[in-house]
Amino acid sequence: MRVRTLKFGEMKQAGERIPCLTAYDYPTARLADASGVPLILVGDSLANVVLGYESTVPVTMDEMLHHTKAVVRGSENALIASDMPFMSYQISPEEALRNAGRLLQEAGAQAVKLEGGAAIAPTVKRLVDAGIPVIGHLGLTPQSVHQLGGYRVQGRSLSGARKLVHDAELLEEAGAFAVVLETVPAEVGKAVTERLGIPTIGIGAGAHCDGEIQVLHEILGLIDGRPRKHAKLYADLNAVISDALSRYVTEVRGGTFPGDEQSFSLDDGVLRDLLGGLGSREWSS
Ligand code: KIV
Repeated sequence: MRVRTLKFGEMKQAGERIPCLTAYDYPTARLADASGVPLILVGDSLANVVLGYESTVPVTMDEMLHHTKAVVRGSENALIASDMPFMSYQISPEEALRNAGRLLQEAGAQAVKLEGGAAIAPTVKRLVDAGIPVIGHLGLTPQSVHQLGGYRVQGRSLSGARKLVHDAELLEEAGAFAVVLETVPAEVGKAVTERLGIPTIGIGAGAHCDGEIQVLHEILGLIDGRPRKHAKLYADLNAVISDALSRYVTEVRGGTFPGDEQSFSLDDGVLRDLLGGLGSREWSS
């Protein structure tokens, strides 16, 4: 049975920290689910991480639906939240409702996440009123990368920090059941966490958030380049996989793979009849 949204509030009340992960496909969903995280996010970071786009901006509803379906199939315990892609919720609350509904109805997600504060709060309310659980996302909101002028720490100035706290309060009022805080000073993460009744899930937001989310591929060393400052390398799978693949190529080239162990053989009788029927040509095995 999957974790329910109510569980996240209960965890905050109980002081139980909330580890969360991203996943974009069936195998990573199985691994994330088996780790025991209560929440798996089908992040639109799938754009950069597995689809090879430069930012999250180009990701479409169809791509989010496709990947969310695979993650739902690969998990049975975690709550699955799906990111609403850029332009799927900004045009109007009605369009947001239609698109969020598709992520639940067609793809099987149990919640959606969308980026933004005051400007998006009425949309959050519209979704929540329709029965769609929502996670907010404040701080560095990657869909606005062109407006933010890059992937920078947000909420560093007094006015920026105040706005962030206020936006978080508006999202809570609108009915969000959790808020992701991305790349903000630890003190801002702490201030928001202390003011909200709903859990904060940090990524680059310090140690005081109620939970943490990381991009699975990044902490396993499956991205190009080094992990970002807020991430930690728990395994270097790029190195492990590169080594395995180069051994495979060497063995195929050298004729040591496949060997007898990986081969199938005919029963003796069939082989005899086959050789007889094939006439004089020599059988080389
Ligand atoms: O898309 C994503 O991966 C995110 C992060 C907050 C994890 O939104």
